Amino acid sequence: MTTNRRNFLKNAAQLTALGFYPLSSFAGVSKNIGQPPTHDLTKASVEDEDFWKLLRTQFPLSNNRVYFNNGTMGPSPYPVIDAVYQKMLQVDSTADYGGWEESRKAIAKFVHANEEEICLTHNVTEGINIICWGLNLKKGDEILVTNHEHVGGALPWLNRAKMQDLKVNFFELGKTAEETLANLKLKINKQTKVIAVPHIVCTIGQIQPIKEIIALAKAHNIQVFVDGAHGTGMLNLDLHDLGCDFYASCCHKWLCGPKGTAFLYIRKEALDKVQPYFVGAGSDSGWNIVEPPTPSLNGYAKAAHRYDYGTQNASLWMGVNAAIKFFETITMPVVEARVKFLASHLQNELLGLKNSNIEMLTSLEAPSRGAVIAFKLRNMEYSTFQTEAGKANFRVRVVPENGVNCIRISTHIYNSIEEINTFVKFVGEMAIR
Ligand SMILES: Cc1ncc(COP(=O)(O)O)c(C=O)c1O
Repeated sequence: MTTNRRNFLKNAAQLTALGFYPLSSFAGVSKNIGQPPTHDLTKASVEDEDFWKLLRTQFPLSNNRVYFNNGTMGPSPYPVIDAVYQKMLQVDSTADYGGWEESRKAIAKFVHANEEEICLTHNVTEGINIICWGLNLKKGDEILVTNHEHVGGALPWLNRAKMQDLKVNFFELGKTAEETLANLKLKINKQTKVIAVPHIVCTIGQIQPIKEIIALAKAHNIQVFVDGAHGTGMLNLDLHDLGCDFYASCCHKWLCGPKGTAFLYIRKEALDKVQPYFVGAGSDSGWNIVEPPTPSLNGYAKAAHRYDYGTQNASLWMGVNAAIKFFETITMPVVEARVKFLASHLQNELLGLKNSNIEMLTSLEAPSRGAVIAFKLRNMEYSTFQTEAGKANFRVRVVPENGVNCIRISTHIYNSIEEINTFVKFVGEMAIR
């Protein structure tokens, strides 16, 4: 047997032992296989590059370019793709469908919530709209958002405000959590009824002090909505511990699940604060059209299922279950530590260039830093940088939103220190142009 073949079988056996996808079944995968690991795969060390390189072979993600845009879309590993394919095949060969209730359970367990608190959605924006329109607000009420909103976090509130004479105001993010809280305090007034805040802002990746924001809001009788687009799969989430009433997230970014899968968490005690507007199968606690005396809707399901209804794409939800299993195998504390390690390495290396053309935007304090780092180049437009980065085979995201005009780098479990170091060298070259 050739060395390559032996290495391939050894790697495949180790990955299969972890419950990951048996690589040999996928044509074309073997070319991605690297050197055999010299250690036990089940003891993932945050800084063990060999382990993470091996893990990378579970992703069909092209090796021709360095992908630093997980904040927009998380590429799926093979077990996810396979689960989608297998379920689709099963549905279309048996003509039986269903099974997505399992995902509600799996998501609840993954984010430390109860099954009754999870509504299945298709994207974060859908969850935001459910809360935005469901909360009891009246003319003149004010919603406070940040000056770093994603369009999906801004538009629903702006739209309702436009249609119902509400007011949207914003507070500015600070360089630290303390500064942000101070800025928020200054903006709260008697009309403030909702604070809608991203857990991790899409622009510069800063983690917001959600617990402190909730405490502040409670003291003023204000509702807090958390846009958790970037929470699931990046942080070891415990939504009960976080203490929020509402958290809209997705499975298609940091969880690397199928695209078009998401969920909305509503704390059980907060269910009746949110009026369901779109309802159907699963939303009700009984209904009747033909029995006398009148057609009636008895009430709503005593669960967040009241906001989701009808047929779901079971194959996508099986992919979500596989994504959760994938992350649970590595374990979320390890994933969180690894992505934070990569991001802090990137931030430190960029700062280490000591080039005055590089302006670091992401907070330097550890509790505010997740897996996303953003910076500006004083000598170059962000769009020019993106073009140059593309030519050098780096996929980055630029942020024109809210006039932030920066370069955003997301690093996930399939990235390596080597990729980051190559990128930092590239930034150094751009910064002296
Ligand atoms: C902070 C934030 N909120 C909302 C969204 C919208 O997410 P989706 O496309 O799943 O609706 C995004 C997407 O990037 C985001 O970053």
